[in-house]
Parts: sequence; structure tokens; C-alpha cells
Amino acid sequence: MIKTIQDTKLPALGFGTFELKGEECRRSVTTALEIGYRHIDTARMYENEDEVGAAMVESGVARDDIFLTSKVWMDDLDYDSLISEAQASVKALKTDFLDLCLVHWPTEKVPLEETFRALTRLQEEGVIRHFGVSNFTPKWLERALDLGDVFCNQVEYHPLLRQRRLHQMAIEHDLLLTAYAPLAEGKLHDNEVLQKIAKRHDATPEQISLAWLLEQQNVAAIPRSSKPEHIRSNFEALEIRLDDEDRSSIEQLPDDRRQIDPEFAPAWEK
Ligand SMILES: NC(=O)c1ccc[n+]([C@@H]2O[C@H](COP(=O)([O-])OP(=O)(O)OC[C@H]3O[C@@H](n4cnc5c(N)ncnc54)[C@H](OP(=O)(O)O)[C@@H]3O)[C@@H](O)[C@H]2O)c1
Repeated sequence: MIKTIQDTKLPALGFGTFELKGEECRRSVTTALEIGYRHIDTARMYENEDEVGAAMVESGVARDDIFLTSKVWMDDLDYDSLISEAQASVKALKTDFLDLCLVHWPTEKVPLEETFRALTRLQEEGVIRHFGVSNFTPKWLERALDLGDVFCNQVEYHPLLRQRRLHQMAIEHDLLLTAYAPLAEGKLHDNEVLQKIAKRHDATPEQISLAWLLEQQNVAAIPRSSKPEHIRSNFEALEIRLDDEDRSSIEQLPDDRRQIDPEFAPAWEK
């Protein structure tokens, strides 16, 4: 499934790599590429760009056929650090460019204007094709949109944390809303409502979450797994079509089950 954002086409289903390290990371990314994933998400902070890059090179898949995202950590958002961190990303990933470079978390430590100036320079030099933000609340996103093109906001998003406002903003501004932790970090499995929907589709709760996210306008999802059978079944979620009854059951679920909430997180908004 391909989505078009600001005239750029990208695969809506990506592969997440948070917490995958070393050989496990390399093996999982290799499996994902073999199965057909063509969108990969990493970050400087994950300390796995070397392995992600090695798996990409060894796969033989053409670089232009992969949509590759990395993120710069919040301590490195001043002009000079951001430039050198993005260049280090590209080098570790054994490529010439990132499709998307994200500000991993918002921070007041560096003016966003300065960060965006560095991102714009990287884009002009072809080091990155697009830039965007992650973990930006509606207020932070408004600030970012005032400063220039934002291609993406990557946030936690799944049936137990529905991002109605950020989704609306994504549609209004033609930006990508990438759903991270789209499986609520494995916590959807025992949800009875999702299990019931899954049974109707001969599917799993994880596949139902992914199908629900992927059918939404401007939304991508980046599930992570280290198990080949999960990597494959998550990919097969692309074949599931939900109906109105499924959607209204999901709308009845609790909407406040945030999994990722570090002490440096911004003040979350509804
Ligand atoms: N921007 C940010 O701040 C941020 C924050 C968090 C995540 N992310 C990105 O989003 C990606 C996804 O989020 P996440 O890794 O936190 O969590 P997730 O994808 O929601 O969940 C991953 C967990 O679900 C399990 N799982 C995967 N597929 C499954 C299946 N089919 N059935 C049962 N269990 C399954 C995995 O275990 P197994 O390995 O055993 O399958 C793993 O424990 C990350 O990898 C990262 O790329 C970004």
C-alpha cells in the first residue's frame, strides 16, 4: 500500500527497529526486506544504524526502492550537531541520503528555528530528502508548521491511543502521521474487543490494529518484531479490510493507554 505525501510516494507499512541491536537487528531487517517491507525506521539513539545499513546493502534491494527514516536525538538539535549527526547517520547506514530525518523529541533547549535551519541546509545539500518531527503535540506541531515544510510527525498511535487531533492536522497540512508502537508494544494481544474483531477476519489483534491504522488517510505504521512469523503476519495485515462494525467497536475502546512517556516528554494534549 502506497501513500502520497506532498507528491512523494512511500510504503504505508514500515519496519520499526527500536531495541533491535547487533545480529538480531541485522537478521530482522534482512527478514523484513525479504518479506517485502520497503520502509525502515531507525534513529541515532537506537545504536543500530550500522546493522540496518548492512542488512539493506546485503539484501540487494535498490536503495531507491526503500524509504529510510532516521532521527536525531534531542541533545543534538543545535545547528552544528544536527548537521554532523545526520551525516553520521547516512554514513552508518551506508547510503548517500535519508528519505526522512526526524527531530526525535521536542525540546526547549535549542530554538526550533535553529534546528529547522540545519534541516533545510541538509535538504538543500541532498543529505536528506525530507524532514519532520516526532512526539510533537498539536501545539508543538503548530510551531513547527510556522517554520517551514514538515513532512511527517511520528507519534505513538494505536487503537488504545487514538490521535484524532494530530490526524486531522496531518490531513489539513498534507503531512504523514507515522504510527509508532502501533502494536502498543505487544499489549494488544489480550484485548477482548480486538480479539473478537480478529476472529471475524481470521486474523490476530496485532493485524487488526495495523489494518485500522493503514486504512486511514496520511497514516503509516512501523511495527517492530524480532520473530520471522510476526514480521510476516504483520506484513499480511495489508490484506485485511475492516468494516464499519469493526471501526465502531474500536472507537469504544479506552483511548488513554500511552506506552511511551519518558520524563522529558512534552505536556501531552488530547
Ligand atoms: N519516535 C519515537 O519516539 C519512537 C518511540 C517508540 C517507537 N518508535 C518506532 O516505532 C517502532 C515500533 O514501536 P515499538 O517497537 O515500540 O513497539 P510495537 O511495534 O508496538 O511492538 C513491538 C512488540 O510487539 C511484539 N510483536 C510484534 N509483532 C507481533 C505479533 N504479530 N504478535 C505478537 N506480538 C508482536 C514484539 O515482540 P517480538 O519481537 O517477540 O515479535 C515487540 O515486543 C519502533 O521499533 C521504532 O522504530 C519510535
